[in-house]
Amino acid sequence: MRSEFLPFSSPNIGEAEIAEVVETLRGGWLTTGPKTRRFEEAFASYVGSRHAVAVNSCTAALHLALEAIGVREGDEVMTSPMTFAATGEVIRYLGGIPVFVDIDPVTMNIDASRIEGVLKRCKRPKAILPVHIAGLACEMDRVVSVAASHDLRVVEDAAHTLPTKYKGRTIGTIGDVTCFSFYSTKTITTGEGGMATTDDDRLAERMRIMSLHGISRDAWNRYTEAGSWYYEILAPGFKYNMSDVMSAIGLAQLRRAGEFHRRRQAIAGRYNDALSSLSEFLETPPDAPPDSLHAWHLYIIKLKLDRLTIDRRAFVEEMKRRNIGCSVHFIPLHIHPYYRDTFGYKPEDFPNAFQTYQRIISLPLYPKMTEADVGSVIGGLTEICQRHGR
Ligand SMILES: Cc1ncc(COP(=O)(O)O)c(C=O)c1O
Repeated sequence: MRSEFLPFSSPNIGEAEIAEVVETLRGGWLTTGPKTRRFEEAFASYVGSRHAVAVNSCTAALHLALEAIGVREGDEVMTSPMTFAATGEVIRYLGGIPVFVDIDPVTMNIDASRIEGVLKRCKRPKAILPVHIAGLACEMDRVVSVAASHDLRVVEDAAHTLPTKYKGRTIGTIGDVTCFSFYSTKTITTGEGGMATTDDDRLAERMRIMSLHGISRDAWNRYTEAGSWYYEILAPGFKYNMSDVMSAIGLAQLRRAGEFHRRRQAIAGRYNDALSSLSEFLETPPDAPPDSLHAWHLYIIKLKLDRLTIDRRAFVEEMKRRNIGCSVHFIPLHIHPYYRDTFGYKPEDFPNAFQTYQRIISLPLYPKMTEADVGSVIGGLTEICQRHGR
């Protein structure tokens, strides 16, 4: 058994990030400025989009994206119930109505084949908001084609994706807007932070303006010699801009994204190999098809509860007793009190999401983990399955 607790997640901050931050602090420009511009340019070129707008969270990026595509009071946005709070709440910020579409129980992503059917019951459908769970892309061909045939916009929740690919295309270049997260557990981090990418000049401009009070120029333009004191408020915007201190960390992290991803792939590969011998008791997550790429932000196993004498809660506790931190992604939105009470949802309304939720456990997976750390997770799982299997 491990003597030290293995946290579920831990960021990988090295000398490169520290040097970038120190340079920024010495430079004296702390808020949105030259480093943020560089981070945006580097990010856009990494994913292959025309624009990248840096903000202080993925939640902010999603909010700005939905505002920019024109979601207004009463508009319906189709999304997956198997997601984090942010995906649903941003629809509500604008008075929109989240319309959940059940998931594919294997990939845990929105079941794209069900969208058309759900659309028939919508009164004012405006957009589809797919979430690429764990870093495995949704069936975007199908999402985009349904959207095109019903004049809907597509905003992607890509909080888990850098550097996910779908049929050779990097996520960030497919939907109208794609929103990334740099929260400290994510595949690259700025502590807190996010990015919205788009190829649409008008959407990029609107998101940029609304990210900083709806004013026509950002602080950098206003306060540098090239700028002036004058500005105009075009709309009541938000305060979502990313600071140069955060962008400094992001620039260094982005340069290491490939190295981080290779390590994540290696750990996922080791889990896949080792856990195949426990296939009586649990399912391992699907990899991406050969023309696509899994970011491996999360590694989610599904317990076979009928083959175990303990439930998921007890299983997570058993892992904790062995000094291994696990998590659950996600408690489906429709069973939370707010969505249940506001929209009258029952757990079985989305049976795949609800049943899958009871079986899932996210294992630790991050570049800083050593081979011994990975081995101890495998050892813990094996022991629990042996002791509590039936
Ligand atoms: C699927 C999903 N969407 C959105 C978010 C929100 O990201 P942020 O914390 O950067 O706002 C998260 C964060 O964990 C997430 O997992």
